[in-house]
This record gives sequence, structure tokens and C-alpha cells, in this order.
Amino acid sequence: MADQTRPRRSALYMPASNERALEKAKSLDIDAVIVDLEDSVAPEAKSDARAQAVAAVKAGGYGRREVLIRVNAPGTDWGRDDILAAATSGVDAVCVPKVESVDQLTAIRSTLDEGGAPSETTIWAMIETPLAVLNVDQIAKAGPADRFPVSVLLLGTNDLAKETRAAQTPDRLPMLTWLSRCVVATRAYGLDILDGVYNNFRDEEGFRRECQQGRDLGMDGKTLIHPNQIGICNEVFSPSAEDIDWSRKVIAAFDQPENAGKGVITLDGQMVELLHRDIARRTVAIADAIAGDAG
Ligand code: COA
Ligand code: MG
Repeated sequence: MADQTRPRRSALYMPASNERALEKAKSLDIDAVIVDLEDSVAPEAKSDARAQAVAAVKAGGYGRREVLIRVNAPGTDWGRDDILAAATSGVDAVCVPKVESVDQLTAIRSTLDEGGAPSETTIWAMIETPLAVLNVDQIAKAGPADRFPVSVLLLGTNDLAKETRAAQTPDRLPMLTWLSRCVVATRAYGLDILDGVYNNFRDEEGFRRECQQGRDLGMDGKTLIHPNQIGICNEVFSPSAEDIDWSRKVIAAFDQPENAGKGVITLDGQMVELLHRDIARRTVAIADAIAGDAG
């Protein structure tokens, strides 16, 4: 189960072999840092990158940000050693690519256990293959666990496009059913979900549109590849000033003595039910957490 009031607007990937990027991340306004050992690291550089990732995480300095290592997929030559190395590095979570089944999750948990990971270490599972999309409800259902729960699903839209041969169009119509299916699965079992990356990191307008689409689909945030994507992403995935004002108004209205015990009231000409108060409370909690982090 994910902490439902922790902001997860922006998660920036960086190659573990890029020391400058690992250092720079300490001053960037991101909610999560994902140190990558997988696709952005060449095969011959894998073991050096692993050592660099572990050293950087152990050295710390990332403050409030969640820190993750993205390991290589468990079936590869490096996956198992990556998980064992990440286990005691001090990461908040291990990001695992190409998760497709509950059996894989079980195996990842036992490797974390073998590596001596603290039980509160969570798993961020990437959904990026056709089988993963088909099995996402089972994967999300297996998320909550006493040890090593899956707290977040991450969409790997580049791999999904590759594996399905679907086109990556600006409106993402070919992928929309898969994206929504994943959102619903996470909501059913109390996880968070982050959207896939936007490759053209110089295209601010297209990036903003894709952030808004992801937010409107119900995503909690987006995975990023470049620092210049952070500002827009945080803005789109933060509650707006208008949302926050309205939410405070809804909460205050239900707190009025004359509304005690009521399930539905009228506010500014609109029907407002207790479920709207629940939404409002979460909006305010997220906004407070963001303001607290910034302060
Ligand atoms: N994380 C942290 N810092 C980053 C960064 C990242 N992902 N990408 C770039 N930066 C830093 C650069 O180090 C540079 O810092 P400096 O000004 O202090 O030297 C600054 O941001 C500007 O970088 P820029 O020159 O515009 O980009 P680049 O050509 O160096 O790198 C990429 C472009 C795409 C190679 C790089 O952004 C990258 O590696 N992104 C992540 C890729 C990845 O992890 N993929 C796997 C998941 S999909
Ligand atoms: Mg991938």
C-alpha cells in the first residue's frame, strides 16, 4: 500500500554511470530519484555502474526525495546481483523493470530478503510488456505485503510501444486502454502510479500536454529523463490554488454545526457529498506536504 498523501509528482531517471547527474539530483525539485542500472547503462559498464549507484545512495544527501535504484530485470545476467547490492544500499525502494507476474514478485522479495534488505523497502514495479498489461490486476493485487510491498507501478511506454508495435502518437490513443487499465488496477489495491517518459525533452508544449493527459487519467505523477521537464511536471501534478481553496471550503462547510451528520449539502450552488470531502482532504494533505517540502 502506498502512502496515499505522499507527493509523487516527478521521478527523474539518471544513468548510474553519470556521476554529474547523481550529484545534480541533490539540488533538483524532484519527488524521487531513480538511479538506473538498466537501459541507460551499456552491458560492459554494468558492474562499475552498480558500484557507483550503491556508493551514491549510501553517501546520501538526497534529502526528502525518495531514492531508488532501477535494477536490471531479474532474468538477465545482472538482475540478481543488482537486487542483492541494492538491498542494503539504503534505497527507499527498488525499481524492477519488466515485471510480468506474481511469481516474479515472489522471487524478487526473496532475493531482497537474502540480501538483507530492511522489510520496509518497497518495490516499484514497471509495467512495460504486453503480459504485464494483461496481468496488471494480479500484480497490483499482490502489491500489499508485510515485507517488501509494491508501492508504485511505473509505466514503461517506450518498451510497450516496442513490444506491441503500437505507434507513439501525440494523443496516445493506441495506448489509452492500457494506461487506464493500469490506473484502475492501482486504485483497486491502494498503490500509486507514475506515467511513462516523454522522449523529446526540448518539446515543452508536447510534454505539458502529455503530463495533463496522464493527470486526467488519474496518474499520480510522471517519470522524467531531463531536468528541464521538472517544472512543468510538478506544476501539472500539484493541486492548483483553485483546487486547494475549493477543498478547504468543502472541509469547512462540513465542519459547520448546521451540517453535522449530513451526507450531502449545497455549496456555491453545487451538490457536495461526503465523498467530496474525502477528495478535498487528500488534496489538502498533498498540498500541505508539497508546501512543507518547499519550506
Ligand atoms: N538527471 C540529472 N541531471 C541530468 C539529467 C538527468 N537525467 N540529464 C541531464 N542532466 C544534467 C546534465 O548533467 C547537465 O548538467 P550540468 O549543466 O550541471 O552539466 C544538465 O542537466 C543539462 O544537460 P543536457 O546537456 O541538456 O543533457 P545531456 O545531453 O547531458 O543529456 C540525456 C541528455 C538524454 C543523455 C540525459 O538527459 C539522460 O541521460 N537522461 C536520462 C536517461 C535515462 O536514465 N534513461 C533511462 C530511463 S528511460
Ligand atoms: Mg523499459
